[in-house]
Amino acid sequence: MTHKKGRVFSGARPTGRQHLGNYLGAMKNYVALQEDYECIYCIVDLHALTTLETTFELRQNTYEMALDWLAVGIRPEESIVFVQSHVPQVTELHTLLSMVTPLGKLTDLPTFKEKVRSQPNNVNYGLVGYPVLMTADIVLYKAGLVPVGVDQAPHIEFARETVRSFNYRYQTNALIEPEMKVTEVPKVLGIDGQQKMGKSLNNHIELAATPQETTQRVMSMVTDPQRMRRTDPGRPEVCNVFTMHKVFSPAEEVSMIDSECRRAGIGCVDCKKRFAANLNAHLEPFRTRRAALDQNPDAVWDVLHDGARRARQIAEATMEEVRAAIGLAPIQR
Ligand code: TRP
Repeated sequence: MTHKKGRVFSGARPTGRQHLGNYLGAMKNYVALQEDYECIYCIVDLHALTTLETTFELRQNTYEMALDWLAVGIRPEESIVFVQSHVPQVTELHTLLSMVTPLGKLTDLPTFKEKVRSQPNNVNYGLVGYPVLMTADIVLYKAGLVPVGVDQAPHIEFARETVRSFNYRYQTNALIEPEMKVTEVPKVLGIDGQQKMGKSLNNHIELAATPQETTQRVMSMVTDPQRMRRTDPGRPEVCNVFTMHKVFSPAEEVSMIDSECRRAGIGCVDCKKRFAANLNAHLEPFRTRRAALDQNPDAVWDVLHDGARRARQIAEATMEEVRAAIGLAPIQR
């Protein structure tokens, strides 16, 4: 691993079966980063508790997401894949970092204000500390690089400031200031062609859906709203189906669709059929791998438990430095 450029950490809440938005927005990039970096990918179940109404599906969602991650090409032999709550050191670091965090800074964050708006009856203490826990995730593993979407920029900036405060307050360099690596991706809209693809809006296409389900969802995708009749020329640049073609279809087909759509040479139904076929072909090896992994759930949990063991080793080493820097009496084990 020493030939690699540095350490990457990223986390995602356990939302169960992943969809095209998750794939293009994060997973694809997670896979690619393994070539150049030592990668640590975490299923952040503790973060999920800040917003969940019930936890009945938490375990299953954790499992389903792990299946998708592994099937898509995250390689647990070289990368660490684990569940956040399996490394309890993160909650300890969260507490220690909270002591150098001004409360107002947390309540001023746009992400916090948004949660107060969306769940006014559940503004829990954990929600306020969400960015502190996220900082603990990153710095516990001394990750230099954090691939996330732009929406997470305030959290990464918060993490950087928190590291500076901690290091200054305790005159140490135990913690490393992480850099954000913004994932450059096409904006993935849902099948409504209006809003960002997401499970809660039920406008998503799951990677693990059957080819039939996938085709059905694709056929219901909203295209250029100004193209009312088959004979109207279309505008690929505003069409979400075209955006997807650019990702999943061969270049010649993309340029054919581009020109034919503009002169009403191809209709939306045909265009979507082509996209469905290309998408299904692209996902087929993924689905095969996923089904194979799903034959043996214990082996999937073993992968996560092994990841947690490796993660705890790094975490414990960091915590020893952190405790020493603060002046806490060392733990006798
Ligand atoms: N807050 C991130 C999100 O909602 C998830 C997350 C938790 C995370 N801890 C992290 C992302 C650490 C990157 C690094 O998407």
